[in-house]
Amino acid sequence: MHPETPVLSLFSGIGGFELGFRKAGFSGEIHAYENWVAARSVLKHRLPGATLHEDVRGIPADLHNAEIVFGGFPCTDLSQAGKQAGIEGSASGLILGVLEAVEKARPEWVLLENVPNMLWLKQGNAMDVITGALSTAGYKWAYRMLDAQHFGVAQRRKRVFILASLHHDPALVLFRDRDSPERAAGPISTVRAEANGFYWTEGNRGVGWGAGVVPTIKGSTTAGIPSSPAVWIPGAEPDLRFRTPSIESLEMLQGFRAGWTKAAPTRDRWKLVGNAVAVPVVRWIADGLRAYDTLTPVGLDARLSKSAGWEWAGVSVGSGRATGKIPTRLSTGSLPRRHSLARLLQTRGSHPLSSGAARGFSGRLGRSRLSYDHQFMEDLVDYSRT
Ligand SMILES: C[S@@+](CC[C@H](N)C(=O)[O-])C[C@H]1O[C@@H](n2cnc3c(N)ncnc32)[C@H](O)[C@@H]1O
Repeated sequence: MHPETPVLSLFSGIGGFELGFRKAGFSGEIHAYENWVAARSVLKHRLPGATLHEDVRGIPADLHNAEIVFGGFPCTDLSQAGKQAGIEGSASGLILGVLEAVEKARPEWVLLENVPNMLWLKQGNAMDVITGALSTAGYKWAYRMLDAQHFGVAQRRKRVFILASLHHDPALVLFRDRDSPERAAGPISTVRAEANGFYWTEGNRGVGWGAGVVPTIKGSTTAGIPSSPAVWIPGAEPDLRFRTPSIESLEMLQGFRAGWTKAAPTRDRWKLVGNAVAVPVVRWIADGLRAYDTLTPVGLDARLSKSAGWEWAGVSVGSGRATGKIPTRLSTGSLPRRHSLARLLQTRGSHPLSSGAARGFSGRLGRSRLSYDHQFMEDLVDYSRT
């Protein structure tokens, strides 16, 4: 695809999609819509050439003649931690107006992103509505759940990407790795690593454990307050064993450069980073769009079947669909990480987990029925006494 293809970015946040596309070589005109002033200050600073607008409800009928429209629409009504009102909710439902505009303006490509819960909440009603609107408008679509930890960052972050096109086949882009024989998952699946992420705020129903990775960085929790993942570094000096990543480390765990959000007020940076899309995953999709003319059809038939539910991946088949459990990692193997989690915290900074937080968490974990690494618990109890 031509590098100067004009794009329209919706719900732009801090520009994760724009950055992924730019890294893939797209350099065309950008119109971006974002109504949060803190996010717009980052966009102004980091995307000086883009034309910024505020509310997506004001998009013009011609969609600025963009050929690619992308965006991660608000997950407030779709995520497990959110209101669960579904696609009819006032925030997540903003996508409905966008789909109406797409039907009229007919951009060649549409790329949408949201949380995996969209596949399951209300039997996947959000997926029914979105893909139904795309099919009615004459689009072929494909979707796939992808996990950022396989794309070069030390963060586990599963998100669903829906790619649709009027005249092309989106499955060629989203499943282009499936031509290669499956490779083993690699060392990230080990139980304990040099650094291990967990959510110190949990401990009753789960801990968000991640060997070598932090669990998904969140924009906010049920209480509306962003809470940080913590990291256990088993081999470190006792008082350095439990850390929480600095904001710069978090930016890098999302695939941005350290300091990406520094133009925003400090109090908002955490939420902005937690809300963002992981840049390397977008980059991988955008690389596929750039190379579209060289892509060849992939045999997916053995992996997908007609079903009523929404599995991890799927494609449109006429007005229906075929879905299946296509892995969230690439069959060509995980992309290399520039920094291990331990190294990232060392170079980009971390803060000590408070002993009160460690005490509360170890108490909850001890009372729970969850299984855990006993060395982890011992270190945690020692640390909480410091
Ligand atoms: C899930 S975040 C998307 C983040 C983005 N993909 C990134 O990489 O930073 C959704 C964004 O939509 C914005 N938003 C919500 N309602 C909006 C509206 N009516 N018009 C424009 N933006 C809106 C929010 O402020 C938030 O930044």
